[in-house]
Amino acid sequence: MSHLFSPLALRGTTFRNRLVLSPMCQYAAENGFVGDWHREHHARLALGGLGGAILEATAVVPEGRITPGCLGIWSEDHIAGLSEIVATYHRHGTAVGIQLAHAGRKASTALPWEGNGPLPEGDPRRWTTKGPSALAFAEGRPTPEMLTEAEIGDIVAAFGAATRRAMAAGFDFVEIHGAHGYLIHAFLADISNRRTDAYGGSIENRMRLALEVTSAVRAALPEEAPLLFRVSAIDGVAGGTTIEETVSLAKALKAAGVDLVDCSSGGIGGPSGVTGVKPTPGFQVPLAAEVKRGAGIPTMAVGLIRDPELAETVVAEGSADLVAMGRELLADSAFAYRAARELGLEDPESVLPLRFGFFLARRPPSPAARPAS
Ligand SMILES: Cc1cc2nc3c(=O)[nH]c(=O)nc-3n(C[C@H](O)[C@H](O)[C@H](O)COP(=O)(O)O)c2cc1C
Repeated sequence: MSHLFSPLALRGTTFRNRLVLSPMCQYAAENGFVGDWHREHHARLALGGLGGAILEATAVVPEGRITPGCLGIWSEDHIAGLSEIVATYHRHGTAVGIQLAHAGRKASTALPWEGNGPLPEGDPRRWTTKGPSALAFAEGRPTPEMLTEAEIGDIVAAFGAATRRAMAAGFDFVEIHGAHGYLIHAFLADISNRRTDAYGGSIENRMRLALEVTSAVRAALPEEAPLLFRVSAIDGVAGGTTIEETVSLAKALKAAGVDLVDCSSGGIGGPSGVTGVKPTPGFQVPLAAEVKRGAGIPTMAVGLIRDPELAETVVAEGSADLVAMGRELLADSAFAYRAARELGLEDPESVLPLRFGFFLARRPPSPAARPAS
């Protein structure tokens, strides 16, 4: 029996297996809108037999985009395009969620193939960044403006409004982006949050934004819709998040209605912008295991999980409940089929849609049974 190919139910959503598309920015949007590339990219993945898929970091306000090419959900007009992607996944049996995000001091960045640096002065696409404190993410990055408490309240409300739009688009679940140095993570980490008001100082205060956003999102979700939260479980730099803080956060998130914590790491930056976490296969799995054990909440493991045996082990050993994959799925959208074969499932082709699986069945159909071509 394969643990990886067993279903998982979270509230009213069933993931038919444990493989999930990790959220990945496509840098293909204009004014936040879904376009041809998103439809093509997600259609390809929707045919791959995944249990779940999470759409890329999608900004709840325009200035919350990482780059000018990021998706947005700040207006009612964004709903129609997103609902097309949802329908594509649903036609093929994959539960689909959206990652709601605000990039904070890491916003207003050039596209990766334009160098990934800050948009230069004078570039008409550039905008003013805001964060917990007036501290730059790294040398050479713009110094953000410190958010006022009223502005923080507006951002919390924007997450709630974005959730209502996500539900209108038909998503099964929502993931809050609380990782990788973006706004919520920047509030959580001491290195980027030097505030002296209710949002800074103690860990309770630094967690306040994460919990306010969680409450606003949960309040806008129907009871049956699961809520996921992505953390950078550790930063590996002085003043960054630690596993102890993350376990405390996960307990508080659980009490506020989060159903699963998605455990990534790093991204907070600092003077050098360097993260202290070195990627190796499955390097973040122990973080997911620690959060699951310490906070008693389901988790998702992610990061250089490319091998079916490793993915199977993560679930079988109870380190995490779901396995997210990013880059390997860009190369091999039918990874689920490969995994099913390598793990020795009896009918691996059944993970794919009929029009693929029928012809991949190990015993070819008799000529009489073959459909006329
Ligand atoms: C092109 C690209 C875009 C990404 N965009 C996001 C994102 O929008 N939100 C997020 O939380 N992580 C993002 N990530 C991180 C991935 O979700 C994932 O955590 C990371 O790539 C490690 O998993 P992998 O080794 O399977 O690729 C991105 C990664 C890549 C390669």
